[in-house]
Amino acid sequence: MVRPGVTTQEIDRAVEHFIRKQGAVPSFLHYNGYPASACISVNDEIIHGIPGKRVLQEGDIVSVDVGAYIGGFHGDCAATFPCGSISPEAQDLINVTRQSFFEGIRYAKEGHRLLDISAAIQQYVESHGYSIVREYVGHGVGQAMHESPEIPNYGHPGRGPRLLRGMTLAIEPMVNAGSAAIQQLSDGWTVKTLDGKWAAHYENTILITDGEPEILTAPVI
Ligand code: MF3
Ligand code: CO
Repeated sequence: MVRPGVTTQEIDRAVEHFIRKQGAVPSFLHYNGYPASACISVNDEIIHGIPGKRVLQEGDIVSVDVGAYIGGFHGDCAATFPCGSISPEAQDLINVTRQSFFEGIRYAKEGHRLLDISAAIQQYVESHGYSIVREYVGHGVGQAMHESPEIPNYGHPGRGPRLLRGMTLAIEPMVNAGSAAIQQLSDGWTVKTLDGKWAAHYENTILITDGEPEILTAPVI
């Protein structure tokens, strides 16, 4: 549905409808008073954009973050999508953000520590000239949407708790094209870049196993 002429509210309604059709419940709706089922963040909005009457335009980049609760457990995932034809710069930001997740989860296995994942994400993102948002982080996810540990997208390898099979984690790099600084909007939710440059987000829920991590949410290609 990310295409010119569609409103972010229309996407949110479709997300909610799909989740409920599966017998699941939208995790975000009413969470700390959040008024929608998806977070939809456009261009310089990083995360937690509230769906509304905004009409998507050709060239926009649109981050859609969704959580669903079923069988006693939450899943949490996000990706940034192009609206029609976008600039090569915007596409590169999307690609690097997505790839940083996969660079990070190379370390998501027993024998490594949590911040090995964080450090790999940071290294990859910064080597491409982008910055990591620091105020918001990934997290454990399970019977609650936000569980310990916090999972920063930056840090020093060899630190943090040891990774053990059975852990379920939401790994979610938030990447700014310009500086890392953010601003919080007066709607109480939307987080934007301070410099107005664009941002991207990519998230999946993963399971630590005795081998490769299992990606529990359907990864966006
Ligand atoms: N996916 C977000 C996260 O990982 C949750 C959105 S906040 C909410 O923290 F309030 F909208 F749920
Ligand atoms: Co999350």
